[in-house]
Amino acid sequence: MKLWGGRFTKETNELVHNFNESISFDRKFYRQDIAGSIAHVTMLAKQGILTEEERDAITAGLKGIREDLDSGKLAITTEHEDIHSFVEAVLTERVGEAGKKLHTGRSRNDQVALDMRLYTRDEIDEMDGLLKGLLEELLKLMEENLHTYMPGFTHLQKAQPVTLAHHLGAYYEMFRRDRSRLSDIRKRMNYCPLGSGALAGTTYPLDRAYTAELLGFDGPTLNSMDSVSDRDYLIELLAALSTIAMHLSRFSEEIIIWNSNEYRFVEMDDSYSTGSSIMPQKKNPDIAELIRGKAGRVYGALVSMLTVMKGIPLAYDKDLQEDKELTFDAIDTVKGCLLLFTGMISTMTFRKDVMEESAKKGFTNATDAADYLVNHGVPFRDAHGIIGQLVLMCIERNISLDELSLEDYRSVCPVFGEDIYDAISMKTCVEKRMTIGAPGAEAMKQVLEIYKKELEA
Ligand code: ARG
Repeated sequence: MKLWGGRFTKETNELVHNFNESISFDRKFYRQDIAGSIAHVTMLAKQGILTEEERDAITAGLKGIREDLDSGKLAITTEHEDIHSFVEAVLTERVGEAGKKLHTGRSRNDQVALDMRLYTRDEIDEMDGLLKGLLEELLKLMEENLHTYMPGFTHLQKAQPVTLAHHLGAYYEMFRRDRSRLSDIRKRMNYCPLGSGALAGTTYPLDRAYTAELLGFDGPTLNSMDSVSDRDYLIELLAALSTIAMHLSRFSEEIIIWNSNEYRFVEMDDSYSTGSSIMPQKKNPDIAELIRGKAGRVYGALVSMLTVMKGIPLAYDKDLQEDKELTFDAIDTVKGCLLLFTGMISTMTFRKDVMEESAKKGFTNATDAADYLVNHGVPFRDAHGIIGQLVLMCIERNISLDELSLEDYRSVCPVFGEDIYDAISMKTCVEKRMTIGAPGAEAMKQVLEIYKKELEA
C-alpha cells in the first residue's frame, strides 16, 4: 500500500518497512492532517486546479474519515507507511477518482511540516491553559497567605523572614515567563509551509497566502527549502518545555523538603501521596519526586532534537522524522506534570504555625536587630558583632531573639530599649519591606493586582 510503488519491482523488506514507518506515532495528528488537506483542496478549487465537485467530494470524504476515526469506527492500520498515506488510501477507497487528486501540488514533505506545526500550535494553546490554571491556583494561595510568615533561605540556611505569598510569588514569576515564552514561540512559528512542495515549490498556481489564512497562520513561509526542513520551532519549544520542567522540578524539590519529617511546613493530601509496602508509617511525596525526575526526559528531548538537526543538509532528509516521538513525549510529559502539580498544591495543607515558628527560631530577624542599632547611631559593623553575641547567647539557651530579656540585651549593648521587641517582630521585619518586589503585604498587593489583570486579559 505504497504511495510510491510505481518505480519499484520488489516488495519492501519487512524489517525496512517497520524501521521506516511513522504511522505508529504520526497517527497522533490525524486531525491536523485532515484539516490541512481540507484547506489544501479548498485552495486548489479556488485556483481552478480542482473542480468544485471534486473539492466537495474530497472534503466530505475527509470529514467522514475524521468522524470515523474520532468515534473509533475506523481503525488506523499499520500496513501504511504514515498517516498521510493512510488518509489518502481510505479517501480514495471511499470517494473514488477525486481522492486521487488530493495530493495535487503537494509533497509529504510540506504536508508533514504543516501537520507538525498545526499539532504543536494546538498543544501550545493547551499547555498555556494548564499554565494559566497553575497561576490561578498560586494567585489564590498568595492572596490567602500575605501574612503567613516563614523563613526565607539562602544556602538552604534560614536567612530573613518572608511570607508564604512571597515565596510562592517567585514561582508565579517563573511560570508567568513560561507562558510568555510559549506565546513568543507561537508567534514566530505561525507561518504556513504548505505549498513548498518537496523542496522547490510547485508549478501549479497555488495561492499560498489563502491556504495560510484558512489554517489560521499569519502568512506563508518565504523559502520552500527551509520550510520543509525547518525544525527550529521545535527546538525552541523543547527549550521552553525544559524550562517549565526545570521550574516544576525546583518547586517539587522544595515541597519534598517542606514535607519532610524535619520541616513539616506542608502536609501532602492523602490523595496525592503514596505508601510503602514494608514501612507502615510512611507517606511519600512520590508525585513531587516523579515531576522532579521527569525533567530529565524533557531535557533529553531537547538535546536529541538539536543533535538530529546538526548534520542535516538542505532540504528534507528522513532524519527529520525523528522529531515526532521525542516532541510528543516531551509535550505529554509536561502536560501531565502541570496537571498533577496543580492538583498536588491545591490539595496540600500549609502548616502556617510551623512556618512562623521556624522563622522565629532561625534568627531570621537578626539583620533587622542590627538595623535597629544602626538606627540608634551604632555603626553597622559594630551592630553586626553585637547581634552575633546575642545570637550565641540564644543558641546556648535554645531560645529566639525575642525571648531574651531587656537586661540580656543591655548586658551586651546599653543602646537597646523596650522598642527592640517591636523592631524584630516578624510582622515588622516583613511589613517594613515595602518596595515593589519585596514581601511586605502592601507591596505584594500591588503585584497581585498586576497579576489579576493579566490573567483576566
Ligand atoms: N513520515 C515522514 C516524516 O515524518 C513524512 C515525510 C516523508 N517524506 C519523504 N520524502 N519520505 O518526516
